[in-house]
Amino acid sequence: MKICVCGKGGSGKTTIIKLMADVLRDRGCKVIVLDSDESNPALYRALGLSAPPCSLMESLGGKRAVQEKMRAAMARGEEEPALSIWQQDSMSLKDLPSDYVAENRGIYLIQTGKIERSMEGCACPMGVVTREFLKKFSLHTGEIMLVDMEAGIEHFGRGIETGVDGVVCVVEPSYESVLIAQNVMKLTSSSGASFKGCVLNKVMDEDQEMNLRSLLDESKVPVIGRIGYYQEIQKASLAGMPPTCDRATAEMVPIVDRIFK
Ligand SMILES: Nc1ncnc2c1ncn2[C@@H]1O[C@H](COP(=O)(O)OP(=O)(O)OP(=O)(O)O)[C@@H](O)[C@H]1O
Ligand SMILES: [Mg+2]
Repeated sequence: MKICVCGKGGSGKTTIIKLMADVLRDRGCKVIVLDSDESNPALYRALGLSAPPCSLMESLGGKRAVQEKMRAAMARGEEEPALSIWQQDSMSLKDLPSDYVAENRGIYLIQTGKIERSMEGCACPMGVVTREFLKKFSLHTGEIMLVDMEAGIEHFGRGIETGVDGVVCVVEPSYESVLIAQNVMKLTSSSGASFKGCVLNKVMDEDQEMNLRSLLDESKVPVIGRIGYYQEIQKASLAGMPPTCDRATAEMVPIVDRIFK
């Protein structure tokens, strides 16, 4: 199953990915994380890696080369959603050269590519690479892919969700985060993926959780669990260390059950 984790900027998508990956790995799954956020550079640190892998963008010859492929395909009359970036019909983890995959304790990281230079152009090629990679990447038995998305909802415009099975939205205690979750649920329904529900994150107390739940309930957005606000997660983040927190991991267990039941 391929699951993408999205939500408002800073709501905790990357943190939730790491906590989820740990729970799944401990259950014996091979967890493949795809970093599709072209801005934030530190997912590899959250996974306890000393360096990120080379990007898929580099494997394709760089962003310019991908832009050229996109132009050529459009000149042939191919419309955006059908753009063919990889020739092969399908690929799996073993088909990727070792430089393009980093691994730590049973969790594998692949990344699309980052914005590197001023004036290098928009991030659309990253979106195309992520979308096409997700469509062509085949999971073997026991493998699960988690996709760490960029903040907000632009990725829906790029059609990235057309390549995943499910969407999870992380909601922090803010009205804006709730509005984004409503939008994510609506956009997911038109993408073909299934909306798995919201994970409430950074919840300070029961009052806050109830308020957040009733706001989401009003718009019929399902909640699949909550993770508290934990100082140790903050501290680890500032130190560039993986967010390890036993209480948060325990709260993640029923969430994983609901998503992967
Ligand atoms: N449950 C939590 N308790 C305390 N701090 C948290 C929790 N979850 C996330 N944080 C902190 O909130 C900040 C944002 O988290 P994170 O980077 O995971 O969010 P994000 O949604 O991936 O952000 P971005 O949109 O920038 O990619 C980090 O400093 C992180 O340590
Ligand atoms: Mg992030």
